[in-house]
Amino acid sequence: MRILFIGDVVGSPGRDMVDEYLPKLKQKYQPAVTIVNGENSAAGKGINEKIYRRFLEKGAQAVTLGNHAWDKKEIFDFIDNAEYLVRPANYPEGTPGKGITYVKTPKGEVAVINLQGRTFLAPNDDPFRKADELIEEARKRTSIIFIDFHAETTSEKQAMGWYVDGRVSVTVGTHTHVQTADERILPEGTAYISDAGMTGPYDGILGMEREAVMKRFLTNLPVRFEVPKEGRNQLSGVLLDIDDSTGKARKIQRIQINDDHPFFS
Ligand SMILES: [Fe+2]
Ligand SMILES: [Fe+2]
Repeated sequence: MRILFIGDVVGSPGRDMVDEYLPKLKQKYQPAVTIVNGENSAAGKGINEKIYRRFLEKGAQAVTLGNHAWDKKEIFDFIDNAEYLVRPANYPEGTPGKGITYVKTPKGEVAVINLQGRTFLAPNDDPFRKADELIEEARKRTSIIFIDFHAETTSEKQAMGWYVDGRVSVTVGTHTHVQTADERILPEGTAYISDAGMTGPYDGILGMEREAVMKRFLTNLPVRFEVPKEGRNQLSGVLLDIDDSTGKARKIQRIQINDDHPFFS
């Protein structure tokens, strides 16, 4: 089974890239399942129902989130009814939404799990123990398990990758918005990358207007960050090949589309 994952979609530039390239990527790679991280898809912070539905219409089967999940208040109106939207599973008991969903394909089900790291992020429940719990639940239904681990530090992400190696098909990191070049198959068969990277403005800083971010560093004063309205864009993600019967990963390949890495159909 082939899985396509698209990293943090930032605002309308990111959504435009998904609109333009998701059909082309699907045509080229024929993934059975496409998963998009949408935590920044509404003006750089959060997601709304219209955008969630548009991702599904454009060909995604599941949307993951992260620390920005709650930034648009509208999330609370639809998250409990959004079957293929997952927020980090290790938020406190009683948090709206869910941290795992199952996508049906002709080759079987894929469990999609979202977890959030705790280093330099909110002191949530333990993502490692939560992973144990959800993996046990998912394995009753399928051996193909995908984890989006939304975390800040490469060490916490590597720890998660090694911790779940052999128990899940994929652990892909998100949140830092910079793609790492450490994609690999761990010894027990879990595909791993510390960060898939970001989909949105190419000439900003992590997807935000660079002038504002530079001003923050130069002055230490509070500055409002906005998604640039114009300029060049990029798409970042990974492509995964999974053995249907064992759930072990066979291949992980980084995807970058930007002016320095043009797309070839
Ligand atoms: Fe993000
Ligand atoms: Fe994030």
